[in-house]
Amino acid sequence: MTAFRILVKAPSNIALVKYMGKLPGGVNLPENPSISMTLSNLATYLEIKVLPAPSFSRRWVPEVPSGGKGDSPNLDRAGEEKFLAHFDRCVSRLSDTPPTGAVEIRSANTFPHSAGIASSASSFAALTLACAGLVARDRKTFEEKFKTDGSFRAELARLSREGSGSSCRSFDGPFVAWEKEQVQVLPSRLPPLSDLVVVISSGQKKVGSSEAHARVKSSPHWQGRVARAGSRFAKLGQAITGGNFQELSEIADADFRDMHQLFETAVPSFSYFAEGTTQVLDFIEEIASPSEVAVTMDAGPNVHVVVPQAEEAHWKRKLSLQFPEYPILVDREGMGAEILLIEEGEMK
Ligand code: DP6
Repeated sequence: MTAFRILVKAPSNIALVKYMGKLPGGVNLPENPSISMTLSNLATYLEIKVLPAPSFSRRWVPEVPSGGKGDSPNLDRAGEEKFLAHFDRCVSRLSDTPPTGAVEIRSANTFPHSAGIASSASSFAALTLACAGLVARDRKTFEEKFKTDGSFRAELARLSREGSGSSCRSFDGPFVAWEKEQVQVLPSRLPPLSDLVVVISSGQKKVGSSEAHARVKSSPHWQGRVARAGSRFAKLGQAITGGNFQELSEIADADFRDMHQLFETAVPSFSYFAEGTTQVLDFIEEIASPSEVAVTMDAGPNVHVVVPQAEEAHWKRKLSLQFPEYPILVDREGMGAEILLIEEGEMK
């Protein structure tokens, strides 16, 4: 193989109806369908570089890729193995010829490690896309196909899901529905939206999301969860298509509270709520109506405040005046993963 480099960017996404609970025996197949909003600048930059070498090797290099932004994640051994196993999965699934050369993978997240924002969605989406570029026979055609062919993006999304479930919703945007193996963009009549992430705590999560997916099933409240989420999924799809922000807001509120109730009633129970979480939620409830602001939380203490872009500055000001101690990351809805550069030939 000749010297080669691909640099991609994949955004994070924020679920409005949550993926929580996996089907037994599947590869990150969800118990219930979910819908998310794709972000844009809260993202992973990832580079795969291949240097000519007599035999094949691949390694993770904890450095920021050239042309990338942010910080290289602190992967522990298990994290690194999971990442490299996904590289192997992508290569073997996407190509019939064994890879050659010395492969180096570098990535960086624009959101600081300490911000407590899950990076698995953006990093596995980025890795899947970069691998697809690496093994593509004709890289120009690949680039064009990725840009223009939604079913090709959906195919890569399915593969990415096997690395980390939520990553399958980062290939398109702004609204993506995921049901079993299928990933699909939803047409939207909503105004363009922003996500203001109020960063409450930077601590390492006590219960990781993989463990959370398993433990929620021990909750008595698990009974009926698939039906509840399924009905919200259907209604949210209609709200997005119909441009009904208030309905989106009410569904997002009900679903994140449902998920956190599962955590709190699981055996053993756990919670991501910090003191600041409740203060921010109460403040929003007091000053804003669901027709103005939608709120959600992932498996962490941060509060995602989703508002129309036209009102972004207004709500950012309100929140930072009230909570000067919590940083606020501002991002906007986005269109999904992108290829930034492909270089072939001589390389330093
Ligand atoms: C709470 O995608 O991180 O963010 O498939 O085990 O990698 P794995 O789980 P992951 O779960 C995300 C859970 C969530 C809700 C969501 O994004 O839908």
